[in-house]
Amino acid sequence: MTDQTPPASPVPLFPLDPTGADRHHESALMRDLGPVIRAVLPGNVTMWVVTDYTLLTELSTDPRVGRDWRTWEALKRGDIPDDWPLLSMIRLNNLMARDGAEHRRLRRPLTKAFTRNRVERMGPRIDEIVTTMLDELPHHADADGIVDLRKHYAYPFPMQVICELIGIPEPWWPRFRELIDTVIRTDTTPQQFIDSQNERHDYFQQLFTMRRKNPTDDLTSALLTTPPEHGEEPFTDEELEDTLWTLIGAGHETSISLIVNATRALLTHPDQHHHIKTGNKNTWHHVIEETLRYDSPVGNFPARFPTEDITIAGITIPKGDAILAPWSGVNRDPNQYGPTANQFNIHRTNKRHLAFGTGPHICIGPHLARFEAMAALPPLFTRYPHLTLATNPTTLPPVPSLFSNSTTTLPVHLNHH
Ligand code: HEM
Repeated sequence: MTDQTPPASPVPLFPLDPTGADRHHESALMRDLGPVIRAVLPGNVTMWVVTDYTLLTELSTDPRVGRDWRTWEALKRGDIPDDWPLLSMIRLNNLMARDGAEHRRLRRPLTKAFTRNRVERMGPRIDEIVTTMLDELPHHADADGIVDLRKHYAYPFPMQVICELIGIPEPWWPRFRELIDTVIRTDTTPQQFIDSQNERHDYFQQLFTMRRKNPTDDLTSALLTTPPEHGEEPFTDEELEDTLWTLIGAGHETSISLIVNATRALLTHPDQHHHIKTGNKNTWHHVIEETLRYDSPVGNFPARFPTEDITIAGITIPKGDAILAPWSGVNRDPNQYGPTANQFNIHRTNKRHLAFGTGPHICIGPHLARFEAMAALPPLFTRYPHLTLATNPTTLPPVPSLFSNSTTTLPVHLNHH
C-alpha cells in the first residue's frame, strides 16, 4: 500500500517507530535527512514530514493546506483499509478535520463555552482533587515504598477534571479511560477499535438525552443549549459526540504527559529541582513552558492535506497527500534553539514553542493545560520535598504511540532522604 506516487526526486523515507521509544533521537535522525521527508507509519502508510520549525509554522498557517481527511487521495482511492486503527485520529467529524467556514462553525461554540472563566471556576474543585490525591499517595506504595506517580496522580487527575467539565457521570470515568486508551495506542486491534467506537456512541446518546431533559452547568449542556450564531447550522449529534470525544482525548492524555514529563525532567535535573525550592511562582511557569518545549506531550500529529500542489524547500508535496506534524521534534530544532536545543533549561531565554501547534487549528486548551499543571506540580513538590525517581530514567517504558510523548510509569520514592 502506498500513499502517493513516488516524487520525481528521491525524498528520504523514514520508518517511524510505533512504540515511541527514543522519540527525540528519531526526530533528530529525521531532521538530519532534510527539512521535508517522508515517513512510513504502521500499516505501511506513508506521510510527508516537515521537520523544520519555521517551515512547519508556515505550513500550518498556509491557507492551501487543510485538515479535511475527505481530501486525502490515498483514502479516496481505497489504499487505506477502513479498519486502519490510526484512522481514529484522522477520520473525525469535528473541528480538527474541517477547514474554513465549516471549521469556524465547529470551533466557535467550543471556544465560547470553553472559556478561561469556566476553567477558573473549577479552581477550588481542582485543588480539592489534588489535595485528596496527594493525601492518598503513600497508600499506593508497594512493598519497597515505591509509588507510580503516573498511575496514581498524573493519570487520574486530568481525566477527572475534563470529565467534570464535560459532564460525564462519575461511574463512567474508568471505562472512558480505557476507551480513550484504545485510540491513543498503536497496538489496538481493528476489532477493539470498532467495539470502542460503538460503545462510545451509546454512552454519548445517553448523556445527550439526560442533558436535553435537565441541562446543568457543564460543557455538554452549554453546547446542546447555546443557539448557533450567524445563521449557522447547529452541531449534529455525531459532530457533538466527536467533539466531546476529542476534548476528552486531547485534554486528558496531553495533560498527563505534561505532568509526568515535567516531574521526570525536574527529578533528573537536580540543579533545577533545587532552583524551584528557592524560586517563586514564576519559576513554575518556566518549568511548565520548558517542559512543553523539551518534552512536548504531542509527538507527531496527523494529518494535513494540501488542496493544491505546494513546494517547500524545493520539494513538491502533491495535492491530497498526507502530512504529519512532528511537534515534539521541531521544539528541539537547533535552528531555533541553538546547540542547547536538547537540554532542559528552565532559564532558557527563548521560551517560544509549538507544543500547542499553530495556525487556525491551534489548540483550544492551553489555558486548561497550564492551569492543571500549575495546580498539580507545585503542591506535589511542596508536599513531598524529598521526592526522587525510584528507577533509572532511561529504562522507563514509553507510551506505545506515535502521538503521545510520555512514559507509561513514573516510579518514585515520596520521602527519600
Ligand atoms: C499539555 C496539554 C496539551 C497539548 C500539548 C496540546 C497540544 C495540541 C496540539 C499540538 C494541537 C494541534 C494539532 C495540529 O494541528 O497538528 C492541539 C489541538 C487541539 N487541542 Fe490541544 N493540547 C493540550 C491540551 C488540550 C486540552 C486541555 C484541550 C481541551 C480540553 C485540548 C483540545 C484541543 C482541540 C479541540 C484541538 C483542535 C483544534 C482545532 O483543530 O481547531 N488540548 N492540541
